[in-house]
Amino acid sequence: MIRLGLLGAGRLGDAVAKVWLARTGEEPLVWSRGGQSPAGDEEKRIAGGAWVSDWADALRAQSVVVAVPGRVLLGLAEGSERARMFEGTILSAASSLSRESLRRAFPRATAICIAPFLIDGANSIPIAALRPTGLPDPEWEKAASELYQFGEVDVIGDEEAFARIFLLGASWPTVVLAALQAAADAGVRGLQDETAALGRRLFFRALRSLLSEQPTDTPEDDSSGDAVATPGGITERGLKNIGELSSLLESVFDQMCARADELRA
Ligand SMILES: NC(=O)c1ccc[n+]([C@@H]2O[C@H](COP(=O)([O-])OP(=O)(O)OC[C@H]3O[C@@H](n4cnc5c(N)ncnc54)[C@H](OP(=O)(O)O)[C@@H]3O)[C@@H](O)[C@H]2O)c1
Repeated sequence: MIRLGLLGAGRLGDAVAKVWLARTGEEPLVWSRGGQSPAGDEEKRIAGGAWVSDWADALRAQSVVVAVPGRVLLGLAEGSERARMFEGTILSAASSLSRESLRRAFPRATAICIAPFLIDGANSIPIAALRPTGLPDPEWEKAASELYQFGEVDVIGDEEAFARIFLLGASWPTVVLAALQAAADAGVRGLQDETAALGRRLFFRALRSLLSEQPTDTPEDDSSGDAVATPGGITERGLKNIGELSSLLESVFDQMCARADELRA
């Protein structure tokens, strides 16, 4: 029996296939709209996958990872007898796809929403999973055992909290990184090319060093600020003038939540 099927061969599908193959030695079944060599693209996608041309053939696997947008999945599954009869596990990474919609599309399957975090590199994919209330232990354990094949798994019980965690793990760091790039630009403004490049390098090196000292597991410990002592209170004056940055970041995050709500299916 084939253990893993995969719907989608984009950024997430590609990472899931690579990590699965590397960690289990098994080829996943793969389906994607554009096929293995989309028109105009000579490079083959997901070389270590067994491609199928009908999306429902991916349901021959015991567990299927959804790596296409939620509405695309619902469009495929709507009216599909094979979706209705599927009794395996659906692991949906589609942002904003509710568990209720998943269950309607795959009424006999064990449907689990997952938030995979690709930022850790290609050898593992840490995952936060929404454990549905009322799901019997054996069904959960079966689904969880497949998730552990990808690396660390954090389990969340509340659907709203899960939606936020979903944004925090992938989308929000990407936006914050864009803000850090803007901060670097502000810092090197007016410098000549070579000096500006040096300035950016030093800035990101300092950031990396601060991040590696950040006590991420104990948020109540706020001692990390001590690491940025500078003579004469230079850092302190900067910190005092940050002003509305927090509310700006809140409104950026709110916009992202609003977009996630628009996409909800
Ligand atoms: N990337 C991440 O870090 C990440 C993390 C968590 C969750 N996700 C979720 O995973 C899903 C895929 O994300 P991604 O980053 O892999 O995106 P992506 O690189 O843009 O890939 C999108 C995939 O969806 C398929 N697709 C798009 N529109 C379609 C349509 N109308 N009909 C059929 N297939 C369609 C594409 O098929 P073709 O290429 O064959 O056209 C491709 O396989 C999204 O729901 C995203 O929110 C991604």
